[in-house]
Amino acid sequence: MTRRAEFELGFFVVLQFMFLLSLCSAEKPEEFLPQISPDTSPQPFLPFIAPSPMVPYINSSIPKLSGLCSLNFTASESLIQTTSHNCWTVFAPLLANVMCCPQLDATLTIILGKASKETGLLALNRTQSKHCLSDIEQILAGKGASSQLWRICSIHSWNLTSSSCPVINVDEFETTVDTSKLLLACEKVDPVKECCEQACQNAILDAATNLTLKASETLADNSDRINDCKNIVHRWLATKLEPSRAKETLRRLANCKINKVCPLVFPHMRHIGGNCSNELSNQTGCCRAMESYVSHLQKQTLITNLQALDCATSLGTKLQKLNITKNIFSVCHISLKDFSLQVGNQESGCLLPSLPSDAIFDKDSGISFTCDLNDNIPAPWPSSSLSSASTCKKPVRIPALPAAASSQPGLYNEGVTRLVIFVLSVVLGMLLS
Ligand SMILES: *[C@@H]1O[C@H](CO)[C@@H](O)[C@H](O)[C@H]1NC(C)=O
Ligand SMILES: *[C@@H]1O[C@H](CO)[C@@H](O)[C@H](O)[C@H]1NC(C)=O
Ligand SMILES: *[C@@H]1O[C@H](CO)[C@@H](O)[C@H](O)[C@H]1NC(C)=O
Ligand SMILES: *[C@@H]1O[C@H](CO)[C@@H](O)[C@H](O)[C@H]1NC(C)=O
Ligand SMILES: *[C@@H]1O[C@H](CO)[C@@H](O)[C@H](O)[C@H]1NC(C)=O
Ligand SMILES: *[C@@H]1O[C@H](CO)[C@@H](O)[C@H](O)[C@H]1NC(C)=O
Ligand SMILES: *[C@@H]1O[C@H](CO)[C@@H](O)[C@H](O)[C@H]1NC(C)=O
Ligand SMILES: *[C@@H]1O[C@H](CO)[C@@H](O)[C@H](O)[C@H]1NC(C)=O
Repeated sequence: MTRRAEFELGFFVVLQFMFLLSLCSAEKPEEFLPQISPDTSPQPFLPFIAPSPMVPYINSSIPKLSGLCSLNFTASESLIQTTSHNCWTVFAPLLANVMCCPQLDATLTIILGKASKETGLLALNRTQSKHCLSDIEQILAGKGASSQLWRICSIHSWNLTSSSCPVINVDEFETTVDTSKLLLACEKVDPVKECCEQACQNAILDAATNLTLKASETLADNSDRINDCKNIVHRWLATKLEPSRAKETLRRLANCKINKVCPLVFPHMRHIGGNCSNELSNQTGCCRAMESYVSHLQKQTLITNLQALDCATSLGTKLQKLNITKNIFSVCHISLKDFSLQVGNQESGCLLPSLPSDAIFDKDSGISFTCDLNDNIPAPWPSSSLSSASTCKKPVRIPALPAAASSQPGLYNEGVTRLVIFVLSVVLGMLLS
C-alpha cells in the first residue's frame, strides 16, 4: 500500500464526513433542509449520484492487528464483509439503527459462538475482549466501514465478555437450560409472526432467566443480568444453527425490536402549537409550521416503513397533547415517507423495507442499498383506541412488509417499486478527477 493511497483514503474519509456534517449540521438547518411543501420541489437530502469506480480505495488500509486475539476471523469472512458494507463510512450513522449495528451484533455473536466450539466458553475474558474488539474494528475499517462503530453502535469490549451472566461454560449452559425447548422455538423464526407471538424471544428470555437464577435466588433487580444472559443464549443458539440461518435469525429478532420504536428525536413544537389551534383559522400557517417541523425530522436517519408508522403515532400523540384534535396530518398531506431521509430529485423519502436487506458493494458502482420510494401512505392520525398500536396491530397496511395478517413470504415485496441508490461514488469521482 502506498503512502499516497493511504493519504487519499484519509482525505476521502474526511471529505465524506464534511459532506455529511454539512448536511446534518443543526446550526442553520434552513439552508439545506428539504422543503416538503406540495408546490415547491424539495432539495434532495441524499443526492442521486452517478456510479464511478471505487475499487482502488477499498483495501487501502491494512488492519493493524494485535496478534493477541484468539478468534478466527477468517472463518467468518463473508459476515464481516457484509458488516463492512452495512456500516460503510458515511452511511454508518444513517443506517446504524436499522442495518449497521444489528449486523455488527449478529456478526460478533456468531464469531463468539463459533469460538465456543474450541474453548467450551461462550464469552471472552476481559483481556481477550479488548484485543478482539480492537482487531475486529481494524478489520472492518480496513474494508471500508466507519472507524467509529464502537460509538455509533455503543459496543464496548465488555460486550464480548460474560458481563454479569453467571454461566458461560457450554456444558453448564446445556445442563441449566432446556436446550431442546429453546431450539424448537428458535430454529425457525418467522419474520412477521415472531414479532407478534414472540415464541423464540420468550424462549430466550426463559433460558436467560434460568441462567440468571444460577447466581441468585430471586429475580428482583436482576434485569441487567437477564439481559447479559440473553446475549449468552444468542451465542449458544448461533452455534446450533447454520451460519447463514444464525445471521438471519439474529437479524429477524433484532428487527422485531427495531420496528417497535421510532428512532427519531422530536424537537420542540412551539410553532405548531401556535399555528395549528383547533379552529385552524389559518391552514397555510399551520401546514407551513408542520412542514418546517417535519423537515427537521427528515435529516436524522434512514428508517423502516414500520418505524415511520411508529413516528407518525408519536408525533400525532404529541400534537394531541397540545390539544390539537383535528387530523392535521391529513389537512397538511403528511405521509409516512415524510419521516425519512429525502433522496433524489423528486419529493421522496427513502423508507427502508421493514426487513431491510443488506447493503451491496459493487466494484463499479459502489455501495448501494434498497429503499422504497413508492410508499405513499398517508400518516395515520392516532385514534385513542390505537394509542398503543403494536407491530401486530398497525393501523395501515404497508406494502413492503404488511402487518401480521399477511405473513406469507410471497407478499413481502408485493407492489413495491424498489429503487437502488448509489450515493458515495461521486465524492470519489470528484476527488479522482
Ligand atoms: C485489494 O485486495 C485485493 C485482494 O485482496 C487485491 O487483489 C487488490 O490488488 C488490492 N487492491 C489494492 C489497491 O491494493
Ligand atoms: C480459521 O478458519 C479457517 C476457515 O474455517 C480455517 O481454514 C483456518 O485453519 C482457521 N485458523 C485457525 C488458526 O484455526
Ligand atoms: C484470557 O483468555 C486467553 C485465551 O483464551 C488466555 O490465554 C488468557 O490466559 C486469559 N487471561 C486471563 C487473565 O484469564
Ligand atoms: C454493551 O453493554 C452495555 C452495558 O452493559 C449495554 O448497554 C449495550 O447495550 C451493549 N451493547 C450491545 C451491542 O450489546
Ligand atoms: C427454565 O426453568 C423452568 C423451571 O425449571 C423450566 O420449566 C423451563 O423449561 C426452563 N426453560 C428453559 C428454556 O430452559
Ligand atoms: C407560526 O409558525 C411560524 C414558522 O412557520 C413561526 O415563525 C410563528 O412564530 C408561529 N406562530 C405562532 C403563533 O406560533
Ligand atoms: C396565514 O399564515 C401565513 C404564514 O404564516 C401568512 O403569510 C398569512 O398572512 C396568514 N393568513 C391570514 C389570513 O392570517
Ligand atoms: C388542553 O385542554 C385542557 C382542557 O381544555 C386544558 O386543561 C389543558 O391545559 C390544555 N393543554 C394545553 C397544552 O393547552
